[in-house]
Amino acid sequence: MPAKSSLLLATLGAALVSAAPAPSRASDFNKRSTCTFTDAATASESKTSCSDIVLKDITVPAGEMLNLKDLNDGTTVTFEGTTTWEYEEWSGPLLYISGKEITVTQASDAVLDGNGAKWWDGEGTNGGKTKPKFFYAHSLDDSKISGLYIKNTPVQAISVESDNLIIEDVTIDNSDGDSEGGHNTDGFDISESSYVTITGAVVKNQDDCVAINSGENIYFSGGTCSGGHGLSIGSVGGRDDNTVKNVTFIDSSISDSENGVRIKTVYDATGTVEDITYSNIKLSGITDYGIVIEQDYENGDPTGTPSNGVTISDVTLTEITGSVESDAVEIYILCGDGSCTDWSFSDIDITGGETSSKCENLPSGISCSE
Ligand SMILES: *[C@@H]1O[C@H](CO)[C@@H](O)[C@H](O)[C@H]1NC(C)=O
Repeated sequence: MPAKSSLLLATLGAALVSAAPAPSRASDFNKRSTCTFTDAATASESKTSCSDIVLKDITVPAGEMLNLKDLNDGTTVTFEGTTTWEYEEWSGPLLYISGKEITVTQASDAVLDGNGAKWWDGEGTNGGKTKPKFFYAHSLDDSKISGLYIKNTPVQAISVESDNLIIEDVTIDNSDGDSEGGHNTDGFDISESSYVTITGAVVKNQDDCVAINSGENIYFSGGTCSGGHGLSIGSVGGRDDNTVKNVTFIDSSISDSENGVRIKTVYDATGTVEDITYSNIKLSGITDYGIVIEQDYENGDPTGTPSNGVTISDVTLTEITGSVESDAVEIYILCGDGSCTDWSFSDIDITGGETSSKCENLPSGISCSE
């Protein structure tokens, strides 16, 4: 197989040539070169001397970040084998990647193992051990994250603060945390971002599958969420950026979770939630609320008293179907006076649970007993 072996030799040659950290020469960067790193320190030191970075079987020392910040434009990062992190109490993140036109991917059988059980104590970010966040995709602009398999993050998995980021076919499997004390293991936390597209995500966890605190033009499709708190916007209010605009969740399923569809805003804060669509969302095994939209959050918890400073407008819910547990509530809406407007519900068919008698300030045409 001459073609294949010469390709292999060419690849090996490139790896050998560039394995030693070279002084960066911008003119050389046009030629793509591969560096294979097997330890975190060398990867961080030499990350800008190659266009294709392979991270092979790296064990990141305790208390350290796998630092891939400020990569050269156009860099490809490929994880191979098992990437894992040693235990120490600190706030992380364990992995940080930033740059422009970056591709982050992995070999098909690779795994990023956050080793979460070492930190899990049932308290998440509310107490107990200080737990590192897992992956900051911050200032990872015009970029793509594709096919990562992540398991057992200590707390929140992927934090997105980027523009024009595609995240496709990423699995976050924290299901071990169901029995071993995983908590606040959010799948995707999105803030201060625009044009983020997440397709084909599989999230098994113990908190929000997705939580959008701020951002615009966010599209989530083909997701499979289980064990967590559902597809959430919020809580919105009381942060630096309090606008969530043009968000679509479509063609996704949520099972064995506290909520299905959720929008929450902060009491006595100001902000805007507008142009929100949830379409073709299938629910099963929901324990708290099938659909919950509420404007009464204070210090992270609902109080039952809504305020109207964060408006929620142009909300379309269509084809929200499936079942909730018998002691769960199918639909709960608690709005402030006049702050929920221009909503449209169609083909809502949620069964098995209770009808709420506590809904307040519903927009015209909307009912809690669809
Ligand atoms: C809303 O967001 C989607 C997905 O990112 C984008 O394709 C669309 O152009 C946006 N719409 C507006 C009006 O900005």
